Amino acid sequence: MTSLTCNPLSDALGASLEGINAALPLDTEMTETIRDAWQKHIVVVLPNQDLNHRQQVQFTSAFGIPGTRSRDKQKRPEGEEFDNAVMMVSNLRDSQGNALGSLPDGEMWFHHDSCYYPKPDAATFLYALEIPSKGGNTRFANMYKAYENLPNDLKTSLKGRRVLQIYNYGTIEKADPDGDLRGVRHGTQPIFIRHRETGRTALYVNRLMTARIEGIPRSDSEAILDELFSICESPSIIYEHQWKPGDLLIWDNQSSCHARTDFPNNERRVLRRCTIKGEKMLAAC
Ligand SMILES: [Fe+2]
Repeated sequence: MTSLTCNPLSDALGASLEGINAALPLDTEMTETIRDAWQKHIVVVLPNQDLNHRQQVQFTSAFGIPGTRSRDKQKRPEGEEFDNAVMMVSNLRDSQGNALGSLPDGEMWFHHDSCYYPKPDAATFLYALEIPSKGGNTRFANMYKAYENLPNDLKTSLKGRRVLQIYNYGTIEKADPDGDLRGVRHGTQPIFIRHRETGRTALYVNRLMTARIEGIPRSDSEAILDELFSICESPSIIYEHQWKPGDLLIWDNQSSCHARTDFPNNERRVLRRCTIKGEKMLAAC
């Protein structure tokens, strides 16, 4: 019988779960233990894993229906035939310089995965294969705490509002909400959400994808969003993960957003990503 330990990683969020071999099928009890840990701590790290592609999909499937890629098959750098449930986050390139994976290089601003869809992914499972000597860290913000830290007047004035989320493949620039959005992935979400499992309220905006608060002038929206982003990105509510090969991270996409720090483009960074499907976001009451 393996003993399981759970050690918090910071005051903001995160826990390390040790004593699990994610390559083996999970029983119901272990599945619920892991799920409870990620809902309590928002991000859990399972270190020292040795997972092939099939085993990662099997592990992910224990927690829900695996999410599928949104990018058209023909446009995926991994190739048309690659598993529809898996994204390679990779900066490797072929001899012509074409990226062999998605999200290849450099810094990426804070975002919630797939928040521009009516039913964003519920959780993401990212496994590290190759990691640069420095940088390429993933920063996670606790969005329950972001909500709690809002001034009361903003909690009141923004209650019931919706925000426009847009993603047009930028990593450190936002799409123009007044631009031509035909063919660009976008949609609106509640600005304050009620987490489906925990029932807690979380702020649901991020610097990369939240382009506008609906129903107010654009200049007012931009001023308020700037204030919200600075609250979301306060160091006191952030945990920054320095990856090691073999780390498997699970993060909750309702109660956190995440960003990537810059890293040398001449070093290899390769991770394998799966998600599980989520439900329609609930507005906080
Ligand atoms: Fe992401």
